[in-house]
Amino acid sequence: MDIVLSGIRPTGNLHLGNYLGALKNFTKMQHENTCYFFIADYHSLTTHPTPQNLQGNVKQALVEYLAAGLDPEIATIFVQSDLPETAELYLLLNMNAYMGELERVTTFKEKARKQPQNINAGLLTYPTLMAADILIHRAHKVPVGKDQEQHLEMTRTFARRFNRMYNAEIFPEPVAYNFGEELVKIPGLDGSAKMSKSDDENSAIFLADEPEAIRKKVMRAVTDAGPTVKNSPKPEPVENLFTLMKAVSQPETVQYFDDKYNSCEIRYGDMKKQLAEDMILFTAPIREKIKELKANDTYIRKVMDMGKEKAHVSGAATVRLVREIIGFRPY
Ligand code: TYM
Repeated sequence: MDIVLSGIRPTGNLHLGNYLGALKNFTKMQHENTCYFFIADYHSLTTHPTPQNLQGNVKQALVEYLAAGLDPEIATIFVQSDLPETAELYLLLNMNAYMGELERVTTFKEKARKQPQNINAGLLTYPTLMAADILIHRAHKVPVGKDQEQHLEMTRTFARRFNRMYNAEIFPEPVAYNFGEELVKIPGLDGSAKMSKSDDENSAIFLADEPEAIRKKVMRAVTDAGPTVKNSPKPEPVENLFTLMKAVSQPETVQYFDDKYNSCEIRYGDMKKQLAEDMILFTAPIREKIKELKANDTYIRKVMDMGKEKAHVSGAATVRLVREIIGFRPY
C-alpha cells in the first residue's frame, strides 16, 4: 500500500483551489492508501500570526478538512506541531540543504519580492521543512496543486542526498500526485493565474462562503469586452473563467459557453450567473458540513488527539532510525 501525505497551511478559510488541488481526489482514495493529512502550523509562522489567530485557523482548517470528506477513522489527520520530531528532522536535513538551491526556489523569490520587510530564515528553509513533513512518514505520493511541484522536486533531492550520504535506502523519492489526474492550478476571479487566500479576498471562493457571497464575487470577476473575431484565442482572464467552469460545471455547460464564445455571441453576465450557481451547488455539501462541525469542539479535539497519536507512531520510528544512521546515541 502506498503512503500518501499532504498538508495545508492554516492561514484562513480553505478555498476552491485548495480543494481541487489537494483534497478532492484524496477524499475518495483514502480507503486504498495509508493516508496522512496534516495542518502545517509551523509553516504558517513565517507570517507571524498571533496565538489566537493561529489556534483559530488550525481549528478552522481541521473543520474544513473533515467537511471536505477526510475520515479521521481511516486517514491520519494531525497538526504538524503535534509531531515535534518533524523539527528534528528539519534540522538534520538543513545540514545538507544548500543556500544556492534554496535561494533559487520560485516561491521564495516571490515571497522575498512581495514582503521585503520579512525575509526570514523560515521562508528560505520552507522547502526543507516541507521535505521533513513528507520524509518523516516516508511518503510515496503527495497530493498537491501545480504550485507545489518545485517543492516536491527539492524533497526528492534531499531524500536522494541523505540516502547516498549514509548509504541507506531509508527515504523513498516522493512524487507530486493527483490520483491519476493532471496537477491543477485553479485561477483567481481577479484575472490572476492562481486562486490564493493571501491576495484580494474577492479573488477566491472559500468553501465556507454563503451563496450570496459567491454570486457577488463571481459577478465581479474580470473579463473583457468580448470577442469580435470568430474562434479567436481567449485572453487570460476569460480563459480563467472557463477553467473555473470546467472544474465545477457539467461538460455540456462548458461546451455551450465555449460555442457562444467562438461565435462571438457570448454574454459574460449569463456565463457568470451559471458559474456562480454551479459553484454554489458544488460547495453546498461541504458548506453545510462546516457549519455542523464548527459547533462541535469536543469532536474536533478528539480528532486532533487521535491524529497526534497515530502520527507519532510513524514519525518517531523514522527519526529514531535517522538518528541511528547518522551516528547519534540511541534514545
Ligand atoms: P498551501 O496551504 O498554500 O495550499 C494547500 C494545498 O492547496 C493547493 N493549492 C492549489 N491548487 C490548485 N490551485 C490553486 N489555486 C491552489 N492554491 C493552493 C496547494 O498546491 C497545496 O497542495 N507548502 C504547502 C503546505 C505543506 C505541504 C507539506 C504540502 C507543508 N508541508 C507537505 C504537502 C506536503 C502550502 O503552502 O500549501
